[in-house]
Amino acid sequence: MKHIKTLLFVFLLTLSTTIKAQETPFSDLLQNIDSREKTSLNGLWDMIVDPLENGYYNHRLQPKEDGYFMNAQMQSPSDLIEYNFDTSKQLMVPGDWNTQMDKLYYYEGTVWYKKDFTYTAKNDEAAFLYFEAVNYEAIVYLNGERIGRHVGGYTPFQFEVTDKLKEGNNFVVVKVDNKRKRENVPTVNQDWWNYGGITRSVHLITVPKSHINDYSVQLRKGATNAITGWVSVTNGKDGDVVSIAIPELKKTVNTVLKNGKAEFSIKAKPKLWSPTSPKTYEVVLKTATDEITDQIGFRTIATEGSKILLNGKQIFLKGISIHEEAPFKTGRVVSVEECKILLEWAKELGCNFIRLAHYPHSEAMVREAEKMGFLIWSEIPVYWTIQFDNEDTYANAKNQLTEMISRDKNRAAVVLWSMANETPEGESRLNFIGNLAEQARKLDDTRLITAALDTQAQGDDGNLIEDPLGKVVDVIGINAYCGWYAGATDTCAQLKWSSAYNKPMIMSEVGGGALYGHHGEKNERWTEEYQAEVFKTNIEMMRNIDFLSGLSPWILMDFRSSRRPLRRIQDDFNRKGLISEQGMKKQAFFTLQEYYEKENN
Ligand code: GCU
Repeated sequence: MKHIKTLLFVFLLTLSTTIKAQETPFSDLLQNIDSREKTSLNGLWDMIVDPLENGYYNHRLQPKEDGYFMNAQMQSPSDLIEYNFDTSKQLMVPGDWNTQMDKLYYYEGTVWYKKDFTYTAKNDEAAFLYFEAVNYEAIVYLNGERIGRHVGGYTPFQFEVTDKLKEGNNFVVVKVDNKRKRENVPTVNQDWWNYGGITRSVHLITVPKSHINDYSVQLRKGATNAITGWVSVTNGKDGDVVSIAIPELKKTVNTVLKNGKAEFSIKAKPKLWSPTSPKTYEVVLKTATDEITDQIGFRTIATEGSKILLNGKQIFLKGISIHEEAPFKTGRVVSVEECKILLEWAKELGCNFIRLAHYPHSEAMVREAEKMGFLIWSEIPVYWTIQFDNEDTYANAKNQLTEMISRDKNRAAVVLWSMANETPEGESRLNFIGNLAEQARKLDDTRLITAALDTQAQGDDGNLIEDPLGKVVDVIGINAYCGWYAGATDTCAQLKWSSAYNKPMIMSEVGGGALYGHHGEKNERWTEEYQAEVFKTNIEMMRNIDFLSGLSPWILMDFRSSRRPLRRIQDDFNRKGLISEQGMKKQAFFTLQEYYEKENN
């Protein structure tokens, strides 16, 4: 027995070292695709719904060679081909399929997408197929050839296709599968609709063979008088010159490439980005063959005891949580206009902070929020009870984290990376999230690490925060639903909070449900009066938490969830929004707005 234990211990040790060994700094995502030459592949795509994955597996469940990805065409009248994209129905990309076709409202499974496009090669260029997000698993084929697979529904991925493209007509096929699986991230239960599809934009990006692949441009950690960073160049040679210019600051620095990377430091005192003045600077990166421009803000973010310091000054985060549910039409947000509507409502509420839940939202949302002066909490969907002791689940979560940080590392507005939401205490969970936090700090040591907890111990003298995860994070997020899931509304104002940690706390979720237009007594569930009362009493409670540094109540707008079937009240919507999905403001919207207007300015 002792012998088996030693063997097991050695095996676990090697496993953790192997996981550590596989760490690469960043995925090789092209940074800032807005600044790249690209052909949009958005629009209508042919589609085939394939619940049995008949287009992928034969009747022996072995992967087919002549699956739907071949986009086979009849060559002679007697040919037997039992699918045809050209005569099939179509889906709009970007978009989820659930809100585009009634038959697909509840559908979870495989849908095949096909898009034809033409390509004309230019000298000395490289080409990438870039997907901003596909939920959940995407297997991508170009002209019948498999080029790659990606899992995770909310982060971008790309495949280089330079040598696979044909001059003239090409077709790309994507097998999209949003089936929920226990080992996935998120796992099988989530309180938001499992919208499936190619939910964000698709691009064919062409860059010079030797191109600027990625870069980081930020203030030196903790300083406001030096801008530092690096530029990584694909197919660059050691000694190649890379220039970084910030015209408005009359600053240009030339540096040289070494092993594909050029580091730099610029003495400069930029005007600092903040919610009241979301100043960004045009930054121009140049090599002999490539040029990228980006709008980048500069700010410092840190904690001091239970305070959060932005640019060295204490700030109180007046926030709101947001799901990527489109206002009015519902379904996944697909346009900048929809992002702006949500952000305008948050502005109207008096917010300087938004929690993008529970997964990375689109790059457009993050960039728009930065322009409008919102501090951002960005999160990966390590949600509820995922398989913490499953190494594939860990690798998947780590990959989503790496892609999230890679995409948004140059966004000044993003100040908090959230590792998880409402996960149960336990050894493997602590290791899992601890490793993620370590990875996040390795990738980006300039931002704060957080997680939303719901593990506070409820005692006679109130709630005590002592979750061991509190040691791992810089800022502790707490989800607490006094007056809704626990306790009567009239008990909340007196509720005391204490913490085992001298760290800032953000009330990352608080709130209750109401159906817009449903009125009654304030102790009557689902009425606007009840929801407003929940906010009133919880605001009272929060006033007395001296280590509270902000809040992001649940939630800006009602959103679809298959956990919410209550007919004539929920009808598949979580009704904790301060605004209905049709844009109608509930009483509680004004309760919170008043609190933000009056306090913490
Ligand atoms: C949880 C969870 C949310 C959920 C909310 C609710 O705290 O984090 O995803 O929607 O509670 O129950 O409404």
